[in-house]
Amino acid sequence: MQSFPFIKKSLKEIETYSVSGKPLQPDLIKLNQNENPFDVPLDLKRELLDELLRQPWHRYPDTFPVDLLKALAGYTGHPVEGIIAGNGSNELMYTIFMATVGAGTKVLIPTPTFFLYEKAVRVFDGTVIPVPMHDDLSYAPEKILEAIEREHPSVIVLVSPNSPTARSLTLEDIESIVNAADGLVIVDEAYIEFSDHGSVQQLLQGHENLVILRTFSKAFSMAGLRVGYLLAEPRLAAELLKPKIPFAVHAFSALTAIRMMEHRPLLNERIAYLKEGRRWLEAQMRTIPEVEIFPSDTNFLIFSTPQAAGMLFQRLLENNVLIRDVSSYPMMERMLRVNTGLKEENERFISVLNNNLQVAR
Ligand SMILES: Cc1ncc(COP(=O)(O)O)c(C=O)c1O
Repeated sequence: MQSFPFIKKSLKEIETYSVSGKPLQPDLIKLNQNENPFDVPLDLKRELLDELLRQPWHRYPDTFPVDLLKALAGYTGHPVEGIIAGNGSNELMYTIFMATVGAGTKVLIPTPTFFLYEKAVRVFDGTVIPVPMHDDLSYAPEKILEAIEREHPSVIVLVSPNSPTARSLTLEDIESIVNAADGLVIVDEAYIEFSDHGSVQQLLQGHENLVILRTFSKAFSMAGLRVGYLLAEPRLAAELLKPKIPFAVHAFSALTAIRMMEHRPLLNERIAYLKEGRRWLEAQMRTIPEVEIFPSDTNFLIFSTPQAAGMLFQRLLENNVLIRDVSSYPMMERMLRVNTGLKEENERFISVLNNNLQVAR
């Protein structure tokens, strides 16, 4: 490929984000992106569409979405000055790195974790300090603390519950990491609504080096509308807001997020359904002799089989069941990830998985 002298050298090592699979179609069982299988309710969609018709499309939205920020303050109990909303939490991850990472900045990342973090650090020419999980894929807080003492990283990334491993850190572990760190600690709580551990939001008070990232893409059924937010002490939030791209939250997405937050009983019902679905999937998979399954604190599961992950992924896809091949992550050779879907989707996945493994028996 032609090399462009004007493109940053760091991009040579970086690949464009892509997700393997096939286009969305009605009979596809889609369990590969940890999304919510329930859409925004149709009556609410209609109400929102009416609202969209009344909105002026030729005007900019708020520089930063004022009403959404107020609603988030009500929902989280966190002061509005300490909240920033973004076009998905991915945009806020880049915002935080714009504020903190330059050439050679050390960023501690437990591995394996959501690979976009490592990629974004490289985009900003930072240096990744990887800290491996234990062999069973649980977090190794003692190794993180050692690395903090040794390397003094400027930024530490903790995804809890973590993707793709599905494991969490305890509140106590995160507190000791935040206390030991002289840099900024990012806690990505994209899957927190499905966790039995709960949020670390209480640590925000008194810790000006902590930022929590959350998303509307998972529990809130809004992956397509792109809304995420961060919580931090107001003084820190004011700094993080400086590099932020203005107008990044679409007025329609902001309004939908506000409405979804008003439907707490529905959200709770869906979360309970999905947690139950994950437990059912886990129990079913344990009955399949070839499957080794790992503990999960969220809406998805990691498993391995004697078959090569790529091959099993393809076989399931031929049967219109789309899951995620995560075998290219370090320590995860042979592993696949599946998120819980509707009851009938979970049943179909189990039956297709069982059939494919049976053929090889
Ligand atoms: C750990 C983690 N953080 C963030 C995201 C993305 O969130 P958003 O859709 O808000 O950009 C994901 C999506 O898969 C994720 O797994």
